[in-house]
Amino acid sequence: MKERESFGSRLGFLLISAGCAIGLGNVWRFPYIVGKYGGAAFVLMYLIFLVIMGIPIMSMEFAVGRASRQSVATSFHKLEPAGSKWHWYSWFGMAGNYMLMMFYTTVGGWMLLYFVKMARGDFQELDAAGVQKAFDSLMAQPGLMLAFMVLVILLGMGVCALGLQNGVERITKVMMLCLLAILLVLAVRSVTLPGAGVGLEFYLKPDFVKLAQGADGAFSFSRLGEAIFAAMGQAFFTLSLGIGAMAIFGSYIGRERRLMGEALNVAILDTFVAVVVGLVIFPAAFHYGVNPGEGPSLIFVTLPNIFNEMPGGRVWGALFFVFMSFAAMSTVIAVFQNIITFPMDKLGWSRKKSVAVNTVAIFILSLPCLLGFNLWSAFQPLGEKSTVMDLEDFILSNNLLPLGSLVYLLFCVSKRGWGFENFLAEADQGKGLPFPRKLRWYFTWVLPFVVLFIFIMGYWQTFSAMLAA
Ligand code: ALA
Repeated sequence: MKERESFGSRLGFLLISAGCAIGLGNVWRFPYIVGKYGGAAFVLMYLIFLVIMGIPIMSMEFAVGRASRQSVATSFHKLEPAGSKWHWYSWFGMAGNYMLMMFYTTVGGWMLLYFVKMARGDFQELDAAGVQKAFDSLMAQPGLMLAFMVLVILLGMGVCALGLQNGVERITKVMMLCLLAILLVLAVRSVTLPGAGVGLEFYLKPDFVKLAQGADGAFSFSRLGEAIFAAMGQAFFTLSLGIGAMAIFGSYIGRERRLMGEALNVAILDTFVAVVVGLVIFPAAFHYGVNPGEGPSLIFVTLPNIFNEMPGGRVWGALFFVFMSFAAMSTVIAVFQNIITFPMDKLGWSRKKSVAVNTVAIFILSLPCLLGFNLWSAFQPLGEKSTVMDLEDFILSNNLLPLGSLVYLLFCVSKRGWGFENFLAEADQGKGLPFPRKLRWYFTWVLPFVVLFIFIMGYWQTFSAMLAA
């Protein structure tokens, strides 16, 4: 059998895992979801979910990957007790990876396009209304969006085609380091924005009343349930949990480090990026009169305004969108690596064949999202003004990610699965932070029910609110 690829260094592993985690979820989804659910109280809830669910479940995904040395395609087959059916999950996990890419490629394309537009100075003469109009007219043109979506797919697949160490590790490592450096510079800029106070208050001072405020301003249970569901979904989305996207990186590393510590490092990097991006967006949104609950267009209608008023704004703007594009591409590359490994592990395909077939598949699968903004805009699956992208995101973030995370969790704690002792023996090999063994009761008897409860409640509240509307 061919020897499995591995990473060249621990830094490579950490940065790629962080690269898979850090992405549009941090720079695009996080600010608009926080805006939608009223700011700081939502952020707090999201941080709690990261700690009580995200980090432990990430350790579990890494452990399943490392113990099996396989991607989600075949990892459960290897570790499950004989005769059990955990391996059915591999299809579900793969569906999640595809679903993520079905809208990620479109939004990644917007990032690249905004980089080009910034660099060309296209927004320089526009006021806030003009910037909004520019975004709306971009959505109306499928041709331009399509070109940039294809570019994202080709760049991502091109890197994957080069192989793990040569392509994925080498390129992602450089991208992630640049990203962190640019982010630090921008953080310094953002705190000096004029009139930052109101936005900072919205973002950082929790107001629990706002969290549960319905459209009429009154307290609403369904709104609260929806917000909690959304916070859990965002925690899973930002760490790419529940679909084996992280597990695969465990399969490329040795046993020198304990996995809890590695998961913590990844989560800290991820949270750092999300929190800092919020610091850039919210002061600016309030300053320019952009509604923070604007939705997926939030960063695209907010940021060009900041850069228009900044000295050297064109250069800063171009750099910012390069950084956004890096974040998006590092996730695209990581998830593509998963997608192309699936038929390699399961069916013995060559890397070349898998790249070729999946390039075409992802192109076709990405089309509905893109067309949902223009030719298919009459299709509004989740209520007024909703798009195909909202539906895909809902299927992923509110279904596949929480349920998939539940599968990893149950697999690692249940005697009928891999079992807690096997999981612990794997997770705690090497140096670093050990997994909290004493909390076994919590992982076995509390956490699965919390995930399930929020899932059922969120479903109920989201749809009862929609039906009532
Ligand atoms: N974790 C990835 C992101 O945040 C999916 O974009």
